[in-house]
Amino acid sequence: MLNKKMEEMLSEQVQFEVFSSYLYLSMSAFCHSINLKGFGHWMRQQSHEEHHHAMKLFDYMIERGNWVSLSSVEKPSHRFKSVHDVMEKSLEHEQKVTVQIHKLYELAGQQKDYATQIMLQWFVNEQVEEEATVKAIIDKLKLIPEKSSAILYLDKELGKRAPTA
Ligand code: FEO
Repeated sequence: MLNKKMEEMLSEQVQFEVFSSYLYLSMSAFCHSINLKGFGHWMRQQSHEEHHHAMKLFDYMIERGNWVSLSSVEKPSHRFKSVHDVMEKSLEHEQKVTVQIHKLYELAGQQKDYATQIMLQWFVNEQVEEEATVKAIIDKLKLIPEKSSAILYLDKELGKRAPTA
């Protein structure tokens, strides 16, 4: 069984991952509203991934015989200026998630909770990948001025993202 502090912090993380899913769904809605359906699709898959992250933590807590304490999820922002803005905000959000995951990893180490540390290792690696993926999209966007039709090529590329299993 996880100790109380770890139970509390992992419950908060489940909630944070659910919020991430909700935020990306809001970003997806924005992208669709400006007719960039590829970006909208990409963000929707991102939202599914975040839900999967929440469930991975939830299942782990259940497996350890703990209670998952959930409360209300914050309303996500829906005010974005452009897909450039969406992707910048997505990177900022992922950087916050990384900080949270590292705190959890450190706590597991302090508590000598090796099983939790090994489970969290997956999240540490996932954050490296997620930040790099979003950063790569931002780098491409930097080559495309806002309101340029070149954005349609990137939109098409992002629309090919395979559905999250
Ligand atoms: Fe679940 Fe994108 O962090």
